[in-house]
Amino acid sequence: MTQVISVVQEKGGAGKTTLLTAIASLMVEDGAKVAVIDTDPQRHLESWAKKDQTDLDWLYEENDEKLIPTVKALKKSEQTYDAIFIDTAGFKSAMAMHAIAAANLILIPSKANEADAKGAKRTYSHVQSVAETMEKEIASFVVMMDVDTNTNITEAITDALDAQEIPRLRAMCAHRTGFKEMTSTGAGPQGSAKRSAQSVLADMQGRGLISYYRSDAWQKSA
Ligand SMILES: Nc1ncnc2c1ncn2[C@@H]1O[C@H](COP(=O)(O)OP(=O)(O)OP(=O)(O)O)[C@@H](O)[C@H]1O
Ligand SMILES: [Mg+2]
Repeated sequence: MTQVISVVQEKGGAGKTTLLTAIASLMVEDGAKVAVIDTDPQRHLESWAKKDQTDLDWLYEENDEKLIPTVKALKKSEQTYDAIFIDTAGFKSAMAMHAIAAANLILIPSKANEADAKGAKRTYSHVQSVAETMEKEIASFVVMMDVDTNTNITEAITDALDAQEIPRLRAMCAHRTGFKEMTSTGAGPQGSAKRSAQSVLADMQGRGLISYYRSDAWQKSA
């Protein structure tokens, strides 16, 4: 089955494009067939994908009403995609609503600060209301991004999210230069950034959220 994973967060700059490109490229490295759809007018995802360093199919969709037909066409195409990722802009929009409706998994990145955590909470509520309207279950998880393990701020933020019963992956993307370098290289994360992103994918797989990721492959190479 093709997994449709939308990365959504109403607060800008929380790490949507970073998270998406990191995990999509690791899945590709592991042999998955992946498509990515950029819906953000800033086209950051597209400029990463255009560097052609990662073997995936990418497209840009600017019309919110065409997003779901585009996803359906990709699912029906001769290419059997293991995963279709959708990147969104950092504000609440009709496009974000369609991206939520198109997906069976939502990732909500949040850096360890109050503004991102509030954005994550609002985004989670938005996902819940779309799911209720559509009468379907949409799994959604906050993913902590750019985490500095030497401070207590992350714990304060994650405790607050947990107290509000907002589902969250235990694995986090640490603050690593390797994540920033992806923008200029067009490749996946390297070094310790790679290991950090791999832990996020392994967490997703452990929860049965993704069907394609052979964690044994990276355990051998780590
Ligand atoms: N784990 C990380 N380590 C280091 N830098 C990070 C990490 N995660 C995100 N960043 C940095 O944070 C900034 C914002 O990230 P990104 O562009 O992925 O956010 P976004 O949510 O896609 O933003 P926008 O809302 O503008 O689309 C970038 O400079 C990125 O390199
Ligand atoms: Mg972005």
